[in-house]
Amino acid sequence: MSQESKSTSSRPPVRKAVIPVAGFGTRFLPATKATPKEMFPLVDKPLTQYVVEEAVACGIEEIIFITGQAKRAIEDHFDRNIELEYLLDNKGKKKQLEQVMEIADKADFAYVRQKEVLGLGHAILQARHLIGDEPFLVMTPDDIFSGNGPASQALIDAYEETGTPIVGVQEVPKDRVHLYGIVSGEPVRDGLLKMSGIVEKPDPKTALTNLAQCGRYIFIPEIFEHFAKAEPGPGGEIHITVGTNGLISEGPVHAVTIPNQYHDAGSKIGYLQAIVEFALEREDLGDEFKAYLKKRLADEK
Ligand code: UTP
Repeated sequence: MSQESKSTSSRPPVRKAVIPVAGFGTRFLPATKATPKEMFPLVDKPLTQYVVEEAVACGIEEIIFITGQAKRAIEDHFDRNIELEYLLDNKGKKKQLEQVMEIADKADFAYVRQKEVLGLGHAILQARHLIGDEPFLVMTPDDIFSGNGPASQALIDAYEETGTPIVGVQEVPKDRVHLYGIVSGEPVRDGLLKMSGIVEKPDPKTALTNLAQCGRYIFIPEIFEHFAKAEPGPGGEIHITVGTNGLISEGPVHAVTIPNQYHDAGSKIGYLQAIVEFALEREDLGDEFKAYLKKRLADEK
């Protein structure tokens, strides 16, 4: 084990999370024309609530949403709805009343607009004035994890162990590396890598690993300058990888494997799979839904 990985963090704890939700969600048009994809439900809870609950379970106190046009539903979801509360109370629907009331109290929420949709790096840059001099968690709400507790805890633990920025990664099949940001570096211990770089969508022939970034990061404020001076890449977007590589050029950055099951809820097939997985896990629905699926698949034969 290297000296670095033994060192204790001299940086402050991670208290803030940035959740970018300003994208157009073009893979889900026409549904996303006026409805945020980040509000799509897995059964009855929107994707954004899953990531907010994950953040809070890891000790996050402040959540900064990077929003844009047609995203008002997200603000409403994390606010009180007095009329609805009154109605549920009058009807004696205590459980539902508790459910809707507690959402607004989960954390302190702030909203910043990304005026032009210029990529995730540009979206994160919009939070600069609210982050100050603290490390912060970044979570993309269409990357959803299940099982094994809150996925971001692996990043918080790695940050506390190394005192460096952290990129959450998972293994992907070698013939699919061209779809992801792929990290490279020196293993420090099982599941922890000291990064030498990250390449956006590499050719499978030249990719150095099959470890892909998967929507969870701990960054430090130094990253903002890299986003601020970045030129938009192909497609007119400023990617997160520009900032990560900028940090690597200035000091150590680690990648940690997230030990949970990953669901790509930003793609149609991944979203469908996530609904099935989450529905099967539900106490109130799981058995009935499984019986339906079994029968449906048996009828197919
Ligand atoms: P995605 O690339 O998955 O979302 O970004 P998208 O661009 O909206 O979807 P497609 O590819 O067109 O279907 C991951 C997260 O980052 C946000 C998105 O809203 C999503 O929550 N994002 C993306 C921004 O906030 N700003 C951007 O410029 C890009």
